[in-house]
Amino acid sequence: MSTSAERREELTAVFKQARTCTLCPQLASTRTQVVFGSGNADADLMFVGEAPGAKEDEGGIPFIGAAGKLLDELLAGVGLARSDVFIANVLMCRPPGNRDPQPGEIDNCQQYLMRKVELIQPTVICTLGNFATKLLRGEPTGISRLHGQAEIIAVGSRAVRLYPLYHPAAALYTRSLLDTLKADIGGLPALLALGPPAQPEPVAAPPEADPEAAAVPDPHVAPAQPAQAAAAEPDRPDWAQPHEDPADRQLGLF
Ligand code: URA
Repeated sequence: MSTSAERREELTAVFKQARTCTLCPQLASTRTQVVFGSGNADADLMFVGEAPGAKEDEGGIPFIGAAGKLLDELLAGVGLARSDVFIANVLMCRPPGNRDPQPGEIDNCQQYLMRKVELIQPTVICTLGNFATKLLRGEPTGISRLHGQAEIIAVGSRAVRLYPLYHPAAALYTRSLLDTLKADIGGLPALLALGPPAQPEPVAAPPEADPEAAAVPDPHVAPAQPAQAAAAEPDRPDWAQPHEDPADRQLGLF
């Protein structure tokens, strides 16, 4: 998976899979729709919030309520627009009554988030608030200790610059958090200018079998099993299968 067109097509396929997801029975039965994420499918900068609220559940796009308006304003302050970034959440479905995401729900939705990161290939990921920060760092240190400090972490198979930020919803109500969030976002252009961190070596494919060697069986090696027809496409989950008709409009891709 290499060109941006191929990755974009694959992202659309993941979206199509996600929008009928029922991994979390309660969320699947209470949501209006899945809020997959939206923005630039080839963005250098990705944001990960917590979960859709009422407005997002209704509109199908993340951060379109008051917190989203603030995020848009703060981005504009550093010369960025929605069309430059991709915005997603830890959960794609609105928790009823805006309750906190539950551990099982975070776990279920994580595979989709990892796939988005793999396909968008951002250089910088800003986690917004505690849930996203704890999920991507894989440990429970809170946002008040981590905000504004960039670090390189692995997200799935990608190395990214993680840059935790206060959640804009928190900054709406507390002036000091707003000032801090603004100052932290002010650091984004310099962080983006660093470019992508070094990527881990891809896992090497096993060496090709030597057909000559196969003619002389080695008594210490178990005979190879006959190849299955499916072995040509190893372990490709259904949501990663290529799809023909792109759903870019519903996805809100730029
Ligand atoms: N808060 C979030 O974390 N995500 C949204 O999409 C909206 C509000």
